[in-house]
Amino acid sequence: MSEPFRRGRGVKYPVPIRILHWLRAVLILGLIACGWYMAGRAEDDPTAGILYPNHKQFGILVWLLALVHLTLRWRYHALLPHAPETLKPWETRLSQAIHWLVIALTLLTPLLGYAMSSSVIDGDGVPFFFLSHVPEFLPKNDTAFALFQTLHRYCAYFLLACVVLHIAGAVKHRLQDKGGETDVLPRML
Ligand code: HEM
Ligand code: HEM
Repeated sequence: MSEPFRRGRGVKYPVPIRILHWLRAVLILGLIACGWYMAGRAEDDPTAGILYPNHKQFGILVWLLALVHLTLRWRYHALLPHAPETLKPWETRLSQAIHWLVIALTLLTPLLGYAMSSSVIDGDGVPFFFLSHVPEFLPKNDTAFALFQTLHRYCAYFLLACVVLHIAGAVKHRLQDKGGETDVLPRML
């Protein structure tokens, strides 16, 4: 078996998972920064015409990539590296809980964004690269729009909090145990 696909201590994640991890990381951090910037501007801000459609279409792309990621995890399940044995049990549980929260939130946040954009009255629709518009299934309704807007915001910032913890964990083990078993960063590089 080739090196990246062996299982156990010190081995790496399969190449497709590593590529997808960094692609999703860039897109998600970019979407949070873009969303935060957009939401703080007036609706007639000159950047709105560029930022809103791109936030929506890249957000939908992240949702599709989250499905691809789950498929790859299932496909490569037997080859995913184990949690390092020298981690304390609470550290293993915390890191796994954060991985699963991040996975769930990258599916839920774009769906709530779509629901918000799909229920707004007189909105600009939901573009997606080669499709002119994604069909909007929800009825136009101010109350539903306000609810989805709030849920989208909470989910996006909760995702950010989880990602910050996730990065803090990787950096902590890098600094404390560089080259050791709990230094998991090289498994993702
Ligand atoms: C993982 C994907 C996504 C992330 C991380 C994300 C993140 C965010 C964040 C952080 C905000 C700012 C919230 C605030 O401060 O009020 C925001 C706003 C917004 N998002 Fe997303 N978003 C994602 C996907 C989507 C999708 C798929 C759509 C629509 C199809 C969408 C539509 C919007 C809209 C319209 C706003 C502006 C809301 C306002 O003006 O109050 N988002 N997003
Ligand atoms: C939005 C940004 C990010 C997301 C959504 C994310 C998501 C994930 C997920 C779901 C996993 C579990 C493995 C898998 O199922 O594919 C993972 C693993 C990992 N991530 Fe991230 N990640 C992000 C950013 C980062 C950054 C910036 C770093 C570097 C400091 C990082 C370092 C790692 C490492 C080292 C692992 C392997 C952990 C282990 O083997 O125990 N991630 N990431």
